Amino acid sequence: MTIFNPLYAVLTAMGFTDPIHPPLTHMPIGLVVAALIFGLTGWLLRRPAWSQAARYCLGLAWLFIFPTVLLGFMDWQHYYQGAWLLPIIVKIGLASFLFVLLSIGLILVKTGREESKALLAIYLIAFLTVGGLGYFGGRLVFGGRAPAAPPALEAGKNLFENNCMACHPNGGNAIMPQAIIIGSDMLKDFPTFLGWIRDPRLDNGKKGPMPDFLPGKISDKQARQLYDYLIGVLGKPPAG
Ligand code: HEC
Repeated sequence: MTIFNPLYAVLTAMGFTDPIHPPLTHMPIGLVVAALIFGLTGWLLRRPAWSQAARYCLGLAWLFIFPTVLLGFMDWQHYYQGAWLLPIIVKIGLASFLFVLLSIGLILVKTGREESKALLAIYLIAFLTVGGLGYFGGRLVFGGRAPAAPPALEAGKNLFENNCMACHPNGGNAIMPQAIIIGSDMLKDFPTFLGWIRDPRLDNGKKGPMPDFLPGKISDKQARQLYDYLIGVLGKPPAG
């Protein structure tokens, strides 16, 4: 429950149930990338107009930090109840750092030091920082959807994260909610499981949305690791 709930209620009524911060992140990220490209090429090719464009991008990126952080804060309160998750803490740190960095850049420009190499360094470091922000944003959304595993099952967990997790978060099913991995008959023994991932079918025998995983993608040995992981963390289906 937060003071932002009415806003999310209106969005939901309009049919929009996604977080609102991610779309806006393209503004500061894109502008920082553009600043780096214009800044570097302007300097290398001695095109003052391009360097000027880089400085405009810098200013706009700085401006867009404000609404982006605000929406990030709102999503954090709404979807994560303001919980101090590690990726959130890292993102707050990186966003603060980016703000200081871009502010220093603007001060350099305002005080007539726009030729300074420090400005180029700022473009580069800001670029790396937004990369980090994007990475941890991705971890927040896609991380933590694979049930935790003891070290012996780590290989299977990695296979699950890379091949299955997007459609089967936590062993569920994001596309066909009734076809979940948890308790699925396809886990009753390894040959059944292997047969399934090699050629998954709908109940009516037709091909459904689940892609097939041929040995080039997941070898028999890897399939075994994946199976051991799924059985280990989700348990076997009830017999019968
Ligand atoms: C693109 C989305 C997608 C990916 C990726 C995917 N699945 Fe599926 N999975 C589905 C869908 C949809 C179904 C329902 C049946 C179908 O479409 O064939 C399903 C069904 C299943 C079932 C049977 C559930 C039941 O109803 O008994 C199992 C088990 C399963 N998937 C395991 C996996 C494993 C293991 C991986 C990774 C190697 C994987 N899936 C990757 C979408 C996906």
